[in-house]
Amino acid sequence: MSKRFTITAALPYTNGPIHIGHLAGVYVPADIYARYLRLQGHDVAFICGSDEHGVPITIKAKKEGVTPQDIVDRFHANIKTSFEDFGISFDNYSRTSGKIHHETASEFFKTLYDKGDFIEETTAQLYDAEANQFLADRFVVGTCPKCGNEESYGDQCEACGTTHNATDLINPKSAITGAVPSLKETKHWFLPLDKHEAFLKEWILDRHKADWKPNVYGQCKSWIDDGLRPRAVTRDLDWGIPVPVEGGNGKVLYVWFDAPIGYISSTKEWAQREGKDWEPYWKDKDTTLVHFIGKDNIVFHCIMFPAMLKAEGSYILPKNVPANEFLNLEGQKLSTSKNWAVWLPDYLKDFPEKQDVLRYVLTATAPETKDNDFTWKDFQARNNNELVAIFGNFINRVLVLTNKYYEGSVPSPKAFSEIDTETLEKVKAFPATLSKSIERYRFREASQELMNLARLGNKYLADEEPWKVIKTDPERVQTIMYVALQISAALAVVSEPFLPASSQKLKTMLQLPPHSWAMVQSGEPLLEPTHQIGKAELLFAKIEDAEIEQQLEKLAQSKLANTIANKVVEPQKETVAFEDFSKLDLRVGTIISAEKMPKAKKLLVLQVDTGIDVRTIVSGIAESFTAESVIGKRVTVLVNLAPRALRGVESQGMILMTETPEGKLVFVNPDVAQETANGLKIS
Ligand code: 2FM
Ligand code: ZN
Repeated sequence: MSKRFTITAALPYTNGPIHIGHLAGVYVPADIYARYLRLQGHDVAFICGSDEHGVPITIKAKKEGVTPQDIVDRFHANIKTSFEDFGISFDNYSRTSGKIHHETASEFFKTLYDKGDFIEETTAQLYDAEANQFLADRFVVGTCPKCGNEESYGDQCEACGTTHNATDLINPKSAITGAVPSLKETKHWFLPLDKHEAFLKEWILDRHKADWKPNVYGQCKSWIDDGLRPRAVTRDLDWGIPVPVEGGNGKVLYVWFDAPIGYISSTKEWAQREGKDWEPYWKDKDTTLVHFIGKDNIVFHCIMFPAMLKAEGSYILPKNVPANEFLNLEGQKLSTSKNWAVWLPDYLKDFPEKQDVLRYVLTATAPETKDNDFTWKDFQARNNNELVAIFGNFINRVLVLTNKYYEGSVPSPKAFSEIDTETLEKVKAFPATLSKSIERYRFREASQELMNLARLGNKYLADEEPWKVIKTDPERVQTIMYVALQISAALAVVSEPFLPASSQKLKTMLQLPPHSWAMVQSGEPLLEPTHQIGKAELLFAKIEDAEIEQQLEKLAQSKLANTIANKVVEPQKETVAFEDFSKLDLRVGTIISAEKMPKAKKLLVLQVDTGIDVRTIVSGIAESFTAESVIGKRVTVLVNLAPRALRGVESQGMILMTETPEGKLVFVNPDVAQETANGLKIS
């Protein structure tokens, strides 16, 4: 029976492009789910848009000397286009700076205000006198009162996930000027979460213990157990939705109050365009509402937004909030500021036509139950060993052989062997298995099950060897190819949510009429004898080592840039007169022997031929070089340094050293060409 679903995907902040962390955590699973539901014939509204308010956007605008509107216009266009090019099938992608959203959020606030659902209170808030501005959310950093993280934001600690009020921070500092803020009184409206505690307890802890993911349920339980407190839903800022009630001048709605209402306004925009009524998608109790989010959004979607919806009174609540954990990249946390990410627009440029490969890899390694790692080597391996070698190879053999033996006409099967019947029975069972995984939000498991269907096909062909049997029993080959074609058609249908572009390509190759998931499940033939298929084309192409090396090189460049940017540069020392400098006697020498100083971690005792003599020099380089590795090195020696005893050994000079941009200690080598190859510049 067709049901109505409202599927939302977290509205991305509009201050940077989309990266693989966003895709793996939210957009790919949400898209698989929405496509799957549509394939079942359900009525789906798949909703998203840009989250355009909030402090990071104003900070970025200030840094660039442009307006916040300039920033969101730039990134809204960037994000929207890359989602489209990647094939995320939103029914609507809106933006929260739009008129329809401002109206919807204002109205929502007014309704709660009129019903007396807010506490209005004048309290002392953090204030930066230098910047002449109140400090909320990301305008202030300090120590998290819960976990001790020294870089917690005013509203949320990214280390432990707790949300708090800016005044809860220990040692707060302004993110604008670095000043220690003072306290200044200001009026705000608070949502009394404590008043909704009983409802939230019953709704989440009692009713959703079994069906919400353990990570989501666990976080909710911990917040509720800690005791809920009123949360300010307005801010003293000039970028956002003006507070639409008396006394609201110069104040805006808290971004986490307006952003989730963005799901509603985006649905309204969609309904207006499509000539539909938006209300059933949010107010009919038979509608299933599901929010796809990342783990840092759990409190807002499971506690705050439901409390707002409940207080308003006419809305349904989410049936599930399948939040994912985080994706790392090559073993390191993704970071926009450190440019440690694979950006979607870059990926689409570097790998045009390979949207499905990234979808597949991000699904197969999705951070569903714990943080997970994306590596380029794994990306290559999953493409080459799974998509190409299993899925693509099977399809290619079926298409090529059908064209070769029957000029593309589906052959009539003769008597089915036991293995044929068994295989067709197995194919029939796949849709139910896949449905079970998808409906439990286990997309990773589902993607592997999909690959198992391709494996089944591959194995069937490898066991039945039609290319050999054709010489002795052509009638048998008709049956084999008929069965293989049914598997190919089943793959074309059930792969749609996971690999939409490849599914479409395969349907075109097979000239497959539209078939539903249920049709595959029924076991009815998906391709009838005499049906004419098209030509074979490669479904997936191998990814070469050079392409992966190029991506790894990009990351290495980011790492290098970060090392350089984060390097603390010592201030220049006092000026020395030329006469003083000319007192230094620098010579080129050769290390002729070296040994570790006993019981000293850092020291090597060197014998250096300076051209004048052979002398002992004690050098603190043992943590960077072994004794053996320095023998024979040509080095620059300060020969007239006053001798001094180190651990009882007299050192008669100093070897000059420097660091490469990567922080590696190297000799100031007289043979310049050799060292510049390491990235060191000496002039
Ligand atoms: O974490 C984020 O990227 C937020 N912009 C998500 C907002 S989701 C919803 F509430 F709009
Ligand atoms: Zn914390």
